[in-house]
Amino acid sequence: MPIFNMPPHANERIQIRDLSFVPLISETEAQTRVLEIGAELTTRYAGQTPLFISILSGAFVFASDLIRAFDSDCEIGFVKLSSYSGTGSTGQVQTVMGLEKDIAGRHLIVVEDIVDTGRTLHFFLDYLRLRGPASICTVTFLRKPEAAEFPVPVDYIGFDIDNRFVVGYGLDYDGLGRNIPGVYQLEESLDR
Ligand code: IMP
Repeated sequence: MPIFNMPPHANERIQIRDLSFVPLISETEAQTRVLEIGAELTTRYAGQTPLFISILSGAFVFASDLIRAFDSDCEIGFVKLSSYSGTGSTGQVQTVMGLEKDIAGRHLIVVEDIVDTGRTLHFFLDYLRLRGPASICTVTFLRKPEAAEFPVPVDYIGFDIDNRFVVGYGLDYDGLGRNIPGVYQLEESLDR
Protein backbone atom coordinates (compact mmCIF):
# COMPACT_ATOMS: atom_id res chain seq x y z
CA MET A 1 0.00 0.00 0.00
CA PRO A 2 1.50 3.38 -0.94
CA ILE A 3 2.43 5.53 2.04
CA PHE A 4 1.13 8.77 0.57
CA ASN A 5 -2.22 7.46 -0.49
CA MET A 6 -4.57 10.33 -1.28
CA PRO A 7 -7.84 10.04 0.60
CA PRO A 8 -10.95 9.75 -1.56
CA HIS A 9 -12.06 13.27 -0.69
CA ALA A 10 -8.70 14.92 -1.48
CA ASN A 11 -9.93 16.94 -4.45
CA GLU A 12 -13.32 17.75 -3.14
CA ARG A 13 -15.03 20.32 -1.01
CA ILE A 14 -15.72 19.12 2.51
CA GLN A 15 -18.34 20.20 4.98
CA ILE A 16 -17.70 20.59 8.70
CA ARG A 17 -20.77 21.61 10.64
CA ASP A 18 -22.01 24.82 8.95
CA LEU A 19 -18.88 25.55 6.88
CA SER A 20 -17.49 24.42 3.52
CA PHE A 21 -13.79 23.97 2.95
CA VAL A 22 -11.76 23.44 -0.21
CA PRO A 23 -8.40 21.64 -0.59
CA LEU A 24 -5.29 23.73 0.06
CA ILE A 25 -2.37 21.37 0.87
CA SER A 26 -2.56 17.69 -0.04
CA GLU A 27 -1.39 14.94 2.25
CA THR A 28 1.51 14.26 -0.15
CA GLU A 29 2.60 17.91 -0.15
CA ALA A 30 2.41 18.03 3.64
CA GLN A 31 4.44 14.85 4.08
CA THR A 32 7.07 15.93 1.55
CA ARG A 33 7.58 19.25 3.31
CA VAL A 34 7.78 17.60 6.75
CA LEU A 35 10.47 15.23 5.48
CA GLU A 36 12.46 18.23 4.16
CA ILE A 37 12.27 20.05 7.48
CA GLY A 38 13.13 16.86 9.36
CA ALA A 39 16.22 16.41 7.22
CA GLU A 40 17.32 20.02 7.81
CA LEU A 41 16.87 19.62 11.56
CA THR A 42 18.80 16.33 11.52
CA THR A 43 21.76 18.13 9.95
CA ARG A 44 21.49 21.14 12.22
CA TYR A 45 21.41 19.10 15.44
CA ALA A 46 24.08 16.54 14.54
CA GLY A 47 25.73 15.26 17.72
CA GLN A 48 23.09 16.80 19.99
CA THR A 49 19.92 15.46 21.57
CA PRO A 50 17.35 18.22 21.14
CA LEU A 51 14.11 18.38 23.06
CA PHE A 52 11.10 18.91 20.80
CA ILE A 53 8.29 20.74 22.57
CA SER A 54 4.93 20.39 20.90
CA ILE A 55 2.20 22.88 21.71
CA LEU A 56 -1.10 21.05 22.18
CA SER A 57 -3.53 20.46 20.84
CA GLY A 58 -3.10 21.40 17.18
CA ALA A 59 0.62 20.60 16.74
CA PHE A 60 0.45 16.97 17.81
CA VAL A 61 -0.01 15.66 14.25
CA PHE A 62 2.84 17.74 12.82
CA ALA A 63 5.10 16.94 15.80
CA SER A 64 4.40 13.24 15.43
CA ASP A 65 5.47 13.27 11.78
CA LEU A 66 8.36 15.66 12.38
CA ILE A 67 10.10 13.61 15.05
CA ARG A 68 9.89 10.54 12.80
CA ALA A 69 11.53 12.59 10.04
CA PHE A 70 14.30 13.52 12.50
CA ASP A 71 16.94 10.87 12.03
CA SER A 72 18.87 11.08 15.29
CA ASP A 73 18.39 11.00 19.07
CA CYS A 74 15.76 13.38 20.39
CA GLU A 75 13.23 13.73 23.17
CA ILE A 76 9.73 15.14 23.00
CA GLY A 77 7.52 16.92 25.50
CA PHE A 78 4.06 18.42 25.22
CA VAL A 79 2.66 21.61 26.68
CA LYS A 80 -0.82 22.97 26.85
CA LEU A 81 -1.17 26.73 26.88
CA SER A 82 -4.41 27.93 28.28
CA SER A 83 -5.53 31.48 27.79
CA TYR A 84 -8.34 33.41 29.29
CA SER A 85 -9.43 37.00 29.10
CA GLY A 86 -8.02 39.27 31.72
CA THR A 87 -10.10 41.97 33.30
CA GLY A 88 -8.02 44.78 31.83
CA SER A 89 -7.82 45.98 28.28
CA THR A 90 -4.60 44.05 27.69
CA GLY A 91 -6.76 41.00 27.06
CA GLN A 92 -4.98 37.72 27.50
CA VAL A 93 -3.28 35.95 30.36
CA GLN A 94 -1.70 32.59 29.66
CA THR A 95 -0.45 29.67 31.68
CA VAL A 96 1.75 26.76 30.66
CA MET A 97 0.89 23.22 31.74
CA GLY A 98 2.76 19.99 31.28
CA LEU A 99 6.40 21.02 30.89
CA GLU A 100 7.87 18.46 33.26
CA LYS A 101 11.41 18.34 31.97
CA ASP A 102 14.15 20.67 33.11
CA ILE A 103 14.93 22.72 30.03
CA ALA A 104 17.97 24.55 31.38
CA GLY A 105 20.91 23.89 29.10
CA ARG A 106 18.79 22.01 26.54
CA HIS A 107 18.51 22.62 22.82
CA LEU A 108 14.79 23.22 22.30
CA ILE A 109 12.77 22.85 19.11
CA VAL A 110 9.34 24.41 19.61
CA VAL A 111 6.72 22.88 17.31
CA GLU A 112 3.58 24.86 16.42
CA ASP A 113 0.70 23.98 14.13
CA ILE A 114 0.10 27.50 12.87
CA VAL A 115 1.40 30.97 13.60
CA ASP A 116 -1.59 33.23 13.15
CA THR A 117 -1.31 36.44 15.17
CA GLY A 118 1.86 35.05 16.79
CA ARG A 119 0.48 35.63 20.27
CA THR A 120 0.89 32.02 21.43
CA LEU A 121 4.48 31.64 20.28
CA HIS A 122 5.46 35.11 21.45
CA PHE A 123 4.27 34.33 24.96
CA PHE A 124 5.74 30.84 25.05
CA LEU A 125 9.17 31.96 23.83
CA ASP A 126 9.33 34.54 26.62
CA TYR A 127 8.44 31.78 29.09
CA LEU A 128 11.15 29.45 27.76
CA ARG A 129 13.89 32.08 27.57
CA LEU A 130 13.55 32.72 31.32
CA ARG A 131 14.39 29.07 32.01
CA GLY A 132 17.88 29.07 30.56
CA PRO A 133 17.82 26.74 27.54
CA ALA A 134 21.03 26.37 25.51
CA SER A 135 19.14 27.36 22.34
CA ILE A 136 15.61 27.70 20.98
CA CYS A 137 14.53 26.95 17.44
CA THR A 138 10.96 27.43 16.25
CA VAL A 139 9.13 25.34 13.68
CA THR A 140 5.59 25.87 12.44
CA PHE A 141 3.68 23.84 9.91
CA LEU A 142 1.67 26.87 8.71
CA ARG A 143 2.02 30.62 8.98
CA LYS A 144 -0.37 33.41 8.02
CA PRO A 145 1.94 36.38 7.37
CA GLU A 146 -0.95 38.81 6.90
CA ALA A 147 -2.33 38.02 10.36
CA ALA A 148 0.92 38.77 12.24
CA GLU A 149 0.47 41.01 15.28
CA PHE A 150 3.32 39.81 17.47
CA PRO A 151 6.94 39.65 16.33
CA VAL A 152 8.07 36.03 16.53
CA PRO A 153 11.16 34.47 15.03
CA VAL A 154 10.21 31.37 13.07
CA ASP A 155 13.17 29.32 11.85
CA TYR A 156 11.33 26.69 9.80
CA ILE A 157 7.97 27.18 8.09
CA GLY A 158 6.09 24.43 6.33
CA PHE A 159 3.89 26.72 4.28
CA ASP A 160 2.96 30.40 4.26
CA ILE A 161 -0.77 30.67 3.56
CA ASP A 162 -3.41 33.34 3.06
CA ASN A 163 -5.18 34.80 6.04
CA ARG A 164 -8.11 32.44 5.80
CA PHE A 165 -9.33 29.82 8.29
CA VAL A 166 -8.01 26.28 7.69
CA VAL A 167 -8.65 22.79 9.06
CA GLY A 168 -6.89 19.45 8.88
CA TYR A 169 -3.47 18.04 9.77
CA GLY A 170 -4.15 18.70 13.45
CA LEU A 171 -6.10 21.94 13.04
CA ASP A 172 -9.76 21.95 13.98
CA TYR A 173 -12.98 23.79 13.46
CA ASP A 174 -15.11 23.51 16.58
CA GLY A 175 -13.29 20.32 17.60
CA LEU A 176 -13.61 18.61 14.22
CA GLY A 177 -11.21 18.09 11.32
CA ARG A 178 -7.95 17.35 13.16
CA ASN A 179 -7.79 13.86 11.63
CA ILE A 180 -7.96 15.02 8.00
CA PRO A 181 -4.56 14.18 6.44
CA GLY A 182 -4.33 17.33 4.27
CA VAL A 183 -5.22 20.98 4.85
CA TYR A 184 -8.50 22.55 3.75
CA GLN A 185 -9.29 26.24 3.54
CA LEU A 186 -12.57 27.96 4.24
CA GLU A 187 -14.33 28.55 0.96
CA GLU A 188 -13.67 32.12 -0.17
CA SER A 189 -17.26 33.26 -0.30
CA LEU A 190 -17.67 32.14 3.32
CA ASP A 191 -14.78 34.15 4.77
CA ARG A 192 -15.79 36.06 7.82
P1 IMP B 1 -1.89 32.65 17.33
O1 IMP B 1 -2.88 33.71 16.94
O2 IMP B 1 -0.65 32.71 16.46
O3 IMP B 1 -1.57 32.73 18.80
O4 IMP B 1 -2.58 31.25 17.07
C1 IMP B 1 -3.19 30.58 18.14
C2 IMP B 1 -3.80 29.27 17.78
O5 IMP B 1 -5.01 29.53 17.09
C3 IMP B 1 -3.03 28.32 16.87
O6 IMP B 1 -2.05 27.56 17.55
C4 IMP B 1 -4.17 27.44 16.39
O7 IMP B 1 -4.44 26.41 17.33
C5 IMP B 1 -5.33 28.41 16.32
N1 IMP B 1 -5.55 28.84 14.93
C6 IMP B 1 -5.11 29.96 14.33
N2 IMP B 1 -5.51 30.01 13.04
C7 IMP B 1 -6.23 28.87 12.85
C8 IMP B 1 -6.91 28.31 11.69
O8 IMP B 1 -6.94 28.86 10.56
N3 IMP B 1 -7.53 27.12 11.89
C9 IMP B 1 -7.53 26.46 13.08
N4 IMP B 1 -6.91 26.93 14.16
C10 IMP B 1 -6.26 28.13 14.05
